[in-house]
Amino acid sequence: SLLDVVINSNLDLDGFGACEGTLTCSTCHLICSQETYDSLPNKPSEEELDMLDLAYELTDTSRLGCQII
Ligand code: FES
Repeated sequence: SLLDVVINSNLDLDGFGACEGTLTCSTCHLICSQETYDSLPNKPSEEELDMLDLAYELTDTSRLGCQII
């Protein structure tokens, strides 16, 4: 997942991925451009959409980084 890329690259994004991809935090919330959103290989699951509902400044092109594969 994109969360794995952040972790494996030692990127210091404060608080990003707090639940380590267990879909319980939404700290990995990303706002994609429409082009990027449309090109992602997987669509959000119901569980991801439920967690996104709790994300700050949710948009139509929001995703959770831990769910992008
Ligand atoms: Fe918690 Fe993605 S890391 S929902």
